Amino acid sequence: MKRRSALAVFGAGLALTLAACGGGGAGTGTDGGDGGSADASDITVGVAMPTQTSERWIADGNNVKAGLEKAGYKVDLQYANDDIPTQSQQIDQMITKGDKVLIVAAIDGTALSSQLANAASSGVKIISYDRLIRGSGDVDFYVSFDNYNVGVQQGTSLLTGLGLKNADGSEGTAPGPFNVELFAGSLDDNNAQFFWDGAFDTLKPYIDSGKLVVKSGQTKIDQAAILRWQQETAQKRMEDLLTSAYNDGSTVDGVLSPYDGISRGIITALQNAGYGGSGKPMPVITGQDAEIASVKLINDGVQYSTIFKDTRKLADEAVKVASALVEGDEPEANDTETYNNGVKVVPSYLLESQIVTKENVTSALVDTGYYTQAQVDAGK
Ligand code: GAL
Repeated sequence: MKRRSALAVFGAGLALTLAACGGGGAGTGTDGGDGGSADASDITVGVAMPTQTSERWIADGNNVKAGLEKAGYKVDLQYANDDIPTQSQQIDQMITKGDKVLIVAAIDGTALSSQLANAASSGVKIISYDRLIRGSGDVDFYVSFDNYNVGVQQGTSLLTGLGLKNADGSEGTAPGPFNVELFAGSLDDNNAQFFWDGAFDTLKPYIDSGKLVVKSGQTKIDQAAILRWQQETAQKRMEDLLTSAYNDGSTVDGVLSPYDGISRGIITALQNAGYGGSGKPMPVITGQDAEIASVKLINDGVQYSTIFKDTRKLADEAVKVASALVEGDEPEANDTETYNNGVKVVPSYLLESQIVTKENVTSALVDTGYYTQAQVDAGK
């Protein structure tokens, strides 16, 4: 897929001046090989990632850094321990140091407006990485996945796991009703609402028909949300749900979880309450990110599904966009409608995600080289 738009032609003069590139492909991405022009090596790209407690963000950071270096850029990669002031400070420093483009996966999507205003006034370009930065007109581009569809996939896999739907999309034969509980992500992360909406829209007809029963009655996103996507917080909420809604001998049949770390917290709470033992099967539990520990849990029949988002492709996309912005080109978007950040609709490039269950762990994750078989077997 060629990302160059017609605007590249329009901007060619500018691009030549800025990048002084010898060939048409210089600096256009991770696969050019000729991206290491003299100018690229003078340019530092700042990469601000939220946390190292989740392996996905470590992989994202490493992949983005490797891609940028391959394209010839210097890279300033920082992690912020899920602490908002730390991330704001890191971004301020990147601007002060003269980084030309920032790739930012925000902790709190609404907390960076003043940093971005500074960046914009210094001519620094901003790429919002996976999580949309809200409330700022200074976000130049957004790279992510189709986040509403991720939620649809989570809801769908809960339904197939329970037998209410078949893998081919047809209605399943399980009669229900099934007791389910719903979890959402961190409300300061724009993605959380998208995942929730996609999943809820998918589950709602079954809730309305009575085939799914949210026994706790907690069907609002703010009741279901888990601040900072924390495993321990999810474990605590699941424990509370079990105590308050399932102390009458009833059992949980399914749990909608938006992220593998949250799923692991839910699983711990359920195991402590005797689920997964004799007579009390583990509920159908969803997830996201295909984190290696959770892939093992899926293979072991403990977690039902995850959503695989190939972060290598996301990193490639971020590198392409960074290169285009450096060259004064307009990066190619495939969505210019969905992601309104409250100030503007941010042009976006959205990738597709995939449901993974025990049936396709190998084809989705091993055959594609995302993990080795040994990693999958070991769960690390
Ligand atoms: C979201 C991201 C998910 C998951 C979650 C927790 O923003 O889209 O894939 O990683 O954060 O880290």
